[in-house]
Amino acid sequence: MKKIYAIIGDPVAHSLSPVMHNAAFDKLGMDAVYLAFRVSKGELGDAIRGAKSLGIAGLNVTIPLKEKALFFVDAEKVAKKIGAINTIDFSSGTPIGYNTDGIGSQRVLKETVDEIKGKKVLIFGAGGAAKAISFYLDAEGARVTIANRTKKRAAQLASKLRNASAIGLDTELKKHIKDSDILINATSVGMHPHEDATLVNANLMHPDLVVFDIVYNPVETKLLREAKRAGVKKIVDGVKMLVYQGAASFRIWTKGEPPIKVMEKAVRGALSSSKSTD
Ligand code: ATR
Repeated sequence: MKKIYAIIGDPVAHSLSPVMHNAAFDKLGMDAVYLAFRVSKGELGDAIRGAKSLGIAGLNVTIPLKEKALFFVDAEKVAKKIGAINTIDFSSGTPIGYNTDGIGSQRVLKETVDEIKGKKVLIFGAGGAAKAISFYLDAEGARVTIANRTKKRAAQLASKLRNASAIGLDTELKKHIKDSDILINATSVGMHPHEDATLVNANLMHPDLVVFDIVYNPVETKLLREAKRAGVKKIVDGVKMLVYQGAASFRIWTKGEPPIKVMEKAVRGALSSSKSTD
């Protein structure tokens, strides 16, 4: 019987996970389909229980449901520590929750930076994405600074990490960027339709900084354009993280190896065609 996978979130219409996973299923000749369902926070428990009853094989969970979804699954150890899930597997009968966002970002950074241990990393944001990313960096021995509009949230996140500090998005920022090796935007700032927004401009960045934006729509955000203007040599867009977190979910669900290049091509193709029709 055809296997059904889906992403649940609100909004979810613009998610590229269906394009990405369906391309993988096609490539591997799998009898499977990946759909998107808009689910509000209030309906989340019913949606997860309903998915199980309907025999849905696996779910991805996206904004604003990643933290609340923890209550309706047995969460794997790391996901529990992070405090958010983005993947549910139903194959054992019980919904098991995982977080593959951190694994995705870790893989991106490993391809970009020789050694994470000891690096000074400045992360913008203190939401679900920032939690997952900072958890892995902290575990690998990076020196993490969480910079968030609501400083209290930054402090809460930093207090859960081994070697992290917290700042606001104000005057302290300038000094911190100068001292940092890696800058990661884990907020939605710069995402379509607010494409002219960025939390920092070229004048604050230096050429040896690695700049990584988790926003993938547009592929080249204002932050990345500013990084280019500052002469930054290592610039990473959000597509790879989307693909790597999706690949990690695919492995959990199917126990098989995902066709990563096909998935990335599908996402980049969808992004460039939506740009011309938007
Ligand atoms: P996610 O799970 O996708 O990370 P989230 O939990 O809603 O989503 O977190 C969004 C993050 O983006 C937060 O850190 C938020 O800052 P606040 O904690 O102050 O709300 C940050 N963010 C969103 N819009 C922002 C803006 N316009 N300027 C600065 N930070 C912003």
